[in-house]
Amino acid sequence: MIGQQAGLMEKVTALCKRRGFVYPSSEIYGGLGGLYDYGPYGVAMRRNIRGLWWRHVVDLRDDVVGLEATILGPEAVWAASGHTVNFTDPLVECRGDCKQRFRADHLESTERCPACGGPLSEPRRFNMMFKTHVGPVEDTASIAYLRPETAQGMFVNFKNVLNSMRVRVPFGIAQQGRSFRNEITHGNFIFRLREFEQMEMEFFVQPGEDERWHAFWIEERLRWYSEVVGIRPERLRLREHADEERAHYAKASTDIEYEYPFGWGELEGIANRTDFDLRTHQEHSGQDLTYQDPETSERYLPYVVEPAVGVDRIMITCLLDAYDEEEVKGETRVVLRLHRDVAPVQVAVMPLSKKDDLIGPAREVQRVLQAVYRVEYDQTGGNIGRRYRRQDEIGTPFCVTIDFETLEDRAVTIRERDSMAQERVPVTGLLDRLRERFA
Ligand code: GAP
Repeated sequence: MIGQQAGLMEKVTALCKRRGFVYPSSEIYGGLGGLYDYGPYGVAMRRNIRGLWWRHVVDLRDDVVGLEATILGPEAVWAASGHTVNFTDPLVECRGDCKQRFRADHLESTERCPACGGPLSEPRRFNMMFKTHVGPVEDTASIAYLRPETAQGMFVNFKNVLNSMRVRVPFGIAQQGRSFRNEITHGNFIFRLREFEQMEMEFFVQPGEDERWHAFWIEERLRWYSEVVGIRPERLRLREHADEERAHYAKASTDIEYEYPFGWGELEGIANRTDFDLRTHQEHSGQDLTYQDPETSERYLPYVVEPAVGVDRIMITCLLDAYDEEEVKGETRVVLRLHRDVAPVQVAVMPLSKKDDLIGPAREVQRVLQAVYRVEYDQTGGNIGRRYRRQDEIGTPFCVTIDFETLEDRAVTIRERDSMAQERVPVTGLLDRLRERFA
């Protein structure tokens, strides 16, 4: 392993563009800060991440249900949630030559501009929500916001879910979807974006049970990263928020942090939101949002424990964690050691040459494997070593090669990404062998 941390973010950024994972958005027009588009392999990887989250947070549990709420929300929702007043960052502007803007809490000194050394303005609170108008008349009645978190969709639908589903506290409502924040400083590639995708789950519990459930979800989510997504556990840690950094709604918050090339940073936050959100929506809407325990008839506003993470944040974490370079026969091999369930392609099927004799059997192998795995068929006919390297760079765990011997012995070669070891297996036993290797 060479050059692991030096220039790692730059290398991953370049690989993502070169190999079709991530492109700067609207690049032919110069792009727009903090916005990225996802290419074919990026899309596949994001679908896998979303799927793994949904499977473990919703499908494998019988106490969590799903929801998809709108991205646009009326001002009333964000006034009630406290976001119109509290969802702010401290902004300072350079009064010197460069006129750049910075987040005051990200600077070592708020006296001098870190870019040009000029004087900085006094910090002022900057609201990060994107505001827009719904309908043809731009009057105050039609003000709406693009959601800065998906969570409010769950709170405003709490009663709907309660009345339409057979749920009983404790239970959760989960959602995946786009969120928008006009971040003062974006950066570190897709780490901090202005448009991103969140996966959040609001877990409603009886007051008094909240601390126990908070501890439960912290452990559960930490385990998910190492056991399900394959992130190296030594690069993960938990960090409790100090009083002054907690969001306006939280009684306690713990971050799962990852050791990024730029230092430890937040991967996921797990907050104890108390009954803040249900209470404030009850007050502002005038609707009763209490829950009645069917056994004791006790009525109360449930407390909420919330694991919240960004798909883009998990994606950059997986890519950084998986990126590796090694010396092979005097050349540098770049390999993404992605977990098999996260990798965009699981098996690449390659006929050694473009000759018709090989294409038939190769297509047959592709058809069989496609029923079980995400398969890419690569018939480009170039040097097989180069084709293996291309698959290494996108993190494909196995390549299956069909060569001229296949026509004689009805066997193919399985080549493994990490060790580069090859084994010959009969076509009839290929699926079983791959199942064993993937296990
Ligand atoms: N509902 C709670 C909430 O939104 P947050 O800590 O502001 O809490 C939760 O965001 C997660 O969303 C973060 O841990 C991170 O994974 C992701 N996230 C937040 N802001 C982001 C941004 N600007 N770009 C990419 N991901 C972001």
